[in-house]
Amino acid sequence: MSSHRIALIPGDGIGQEVIPAACAVLDAVAIGHGLSFTYDEFDWSCDRYLQTGAMMPADGLDQVRHHDAILLGAVGYPGVPDHVSLWGLLIPMRREFQQYVNLRPIKVFEGVPSPLRSARAGEVDLVVVRENVEGEYSEIGGRMYRGTPQEAAVQESVFTRAGVTRLLDYGFDLATKRRGQLTSATKSNGIVHTMPFWDELVRERAARYPSVAWNQEHIDALAAKFVLSPERFDVVVASNLFGDILSDLAAAVAGSIGIAPAASLNPEREFPSTFEPVHGSAPDIAGKGVANPLGAIWSASMMLDHLGHPEAGADVLTAIAAVLAGSGVRTADLGGTADTAQFTEAVIAALPTAG
Ligand code: NAI
Ligand code: MG
Repeated sequence: MSSHRIALIPGDGIGQEVIPAACAVLDAVAIGHGLSFTYDEFDWSCDRYLQTGAMMPADGLDQVRHHDAILLGAVGYPGVPDHVSLWGLLIPMRREFQQYVNLRPIKVFEGVPSPLRSARAGEVDLVVVRENVEGEYSEIGGRMYRGTPQEAAVQESVFTRAGVTRLLDYGFDLATKRRGQLTSATKSNGIVHTMPFWDELVRERAARYPSVAWNQEHIDALAAKFVLSPERFDVVVASNLFGDILSDLAAAVAGSIGIAPAASLNPEREFPSTFEPVHGSAPDIAGKGVANPLGAIWSASMMLDHLGHPEAGADVLTAIAAVLAGSGVRTADLGGTADTAQFTEAVIAALPTAG
């Protein structure tokens, strides 16, 4: 029996609804694979911020530092500015735990119509590898002459050789295990310092992976190609900002933001990695029990892979695909009438090792 201790941070809104769904699937798949999970739940959220003035306690990161992984719902809610919730929890966690790879797979499943007629099931299967701890999301900068006509704001981007190189190596290595293609998102025509540096490092690292066919695309053209021919992409490496935008776009192409998973990985495993759906707290549907738990369940499947149980992870993906392709059970965002609990039960029943 292999057992794991997982830190749960459901967070805000539908995070509270999709994380229990992911845990129910984890517990069900565990039975067939000789695994067991214990969960420690943390109430870090905008609610907590409103009551105590902080998204998490001062020693919060120390409380989860020794867990095997972190499963996170979503943080952010009306009433608390989004930069407060993001910089009060997610960004410190990504940085302190060196979760420098943000991995976002996208697939079009059989039975889930893409809004694009050209995107067919089985053909769209790509991964966005987003730099997660530096780049455009930096604390360097400031505001001057607030409230006056001369008011100015400056925000610096930070790209380091070490930070970009380790991210690119992760992407190239992943490409060798997939279809051997890598696309680098750039904008070196308009952004004349950091992006040519990024391009140079891509060329440098590519030389070490002769089996990977690679190219680079400017982010604007790349966004258009994600819409026009998403099937041509395999691994896409991108800076923090470009990767953030591109992966939401790709999730929409795949049918709904509700299905998209993500992992913030510390590949060296010195710290816990965080597994989190791409979507936010969805205040418009929170509390109704109708959120699509698929993004959270797929994130849990990625957690199983990371914890060394790829067969269990694959079983969860197989069950998701079987429910979508072989039954009408789906949540409202995918055009169905099932609620969160009904969809979760269908996934559990479809596990290859069930009953
Ligand atoms: P959102 O992802 O919460 O919602 C966008 C739209 O997609 C809404 O119409 C929502 O109902 C729908 N949606 C999202 N997830 C769904 C699901 N699982 N099932 C069905 N429908 C779903 O993005 P929004 O509205 O921009 O942000 C709301 C809050 O969430 C903000 O405070 C934002 O900062 C936060 N947020 C947090 C993230 C995180 O913790 N990783 C990521 C994105 C947003
Ligand atoms: Mg985003």
